[in-house]
Amino acid sequence: MDFLTLFAIYVTVVLTSIILVCKYSGQQQSPFSYIFDTTTKLVVPLTPKWLKRCLQWTSHRFFHQRTKMFIILHILLEGAVYAEFTYEVFGFCVEMGISLVSLSVPYILLLVKTFFFYLCINKEPGTVTKKKNSSQLNMYPYDKRLFHPGISCPTCHLIKPARSKHCRVCDRCVQRFDHHCIWVNNCIGAYNIRYFLLYLISVCAMSADIAILTADLLVEAVLQSGLLWASYIDEYGQQQPAGPQFVMQHLFLTFPRIVFMLGFVVFVFLLLAGYTLFHLFLALINQTSNEWYRNRGYVCQHCHPSPTGDHFCIAASHNSKRNYYSRGVLRNLGEIFFPRRPGGKKNT
Ligand SMILES: *[C@@H]1O[C@H](CO)[C@@H](O)[C@H](O)[C@H]1NC(C)=O
Ligand SMILES: [Zn+2]
Ligand SMILES: [Zn+2]
Repeated sequence: MDFLTLFAIYVTVVLTSIILVCKYSGQQQSPFSYIFDTTTKLVVPLTPKWLKRCLQWTSHRFFHQRTKMFIILHILLEGAVYAEFTYEVFGFCVEMGISLVSLSVPYILLLVKTFFFYLCINKEPGTVTKKKNSSQLNMYPYDKRLFHPGISCPTCHLIKPARSKHCRVCDRCVQRFDHHCIWVNNCIGAYNIRYFLLYLISVCAMSADIAILTADLLVEAVLQSGLLWASYIDEYGQQQPAGPQFVMQHLFLTFPRIVFMLGFVVFVFLLLAGYTLFHLFLALINQTSNEWYRNRGYVCQHCHPSPTGDHFCIAASHNSKRNYYSRGVLRNLGEIFFPRRPGGKKNT
């Protein structure tokens, strides 16, 4: 196979993964569990019983039950990127004359990120408990659209506070439930959404910084190789400029691990940047992802049966569902970072 075909396959795989993940991250289930479950369903009719059971067990074990596996995977991937960065990129960058101060930024970001990651994993997201239930009920008023008063959770047998949801993975109801994140093996709710946002931002910063340093290095390498101005003699004995294909080939052959790492980091960055922006947007408008997805499927009682989800209804008081919860951007952010405590007081 020639180089261009290989390169085209590489780009196609990366782009398809991005598109797939973006498309399915709109589902309440995580894209990974969705892809896994779909594959399982497709494969199941063709497989023997034992394999079926094995697949079901895997799906249950990894996507419908708490598991540390994704935390470990997360740390392994991060370890691989940092090992490659330290082992190859760092040295080249020093040679190129990039200052040690800028080269230490990725490591500082790693520390910051690890701190928020740790908090996301270990902070209590706001479990609804028997003891606190009565005060938790007062935390938010019921909107009588998505959340109705007096409904109890069939599993926990406790009255559901407004904005809460039962997490099937953790088997508990969580205040201001956002979603269950498999990467931190915890629900994201009232008391750890702030750490989750900071974690997302720090991962984005980390991958962007590594990508910029690495890309800088590769650009420098190309400039130094002089390939941009090089030329070759083709089969008709004519002089041809080398062109981008040669540059790419040169990079792939000279720094295969670095190029692969750069591809991965850019992929992670694009994916997470979109996700982070979405979560920041939700934070600014005082909505949880749970409410966002439920709003999309919401059928307005007044305009029924036509408009669903996001619309402007003239008949009802809820003219714009967008601003239903919002009391201004700053106050919304304030509530994320200084969440309400049961009993109505606001404190950290
Ligand atoms: C966020 O929305 C809830 C509605 O569930 C509301 O009670 C609360 O006051 C809002 N917070 C801010 C800061 O607007
Ligand atoms: Zn429950
Ligand atoms: Zn959970």
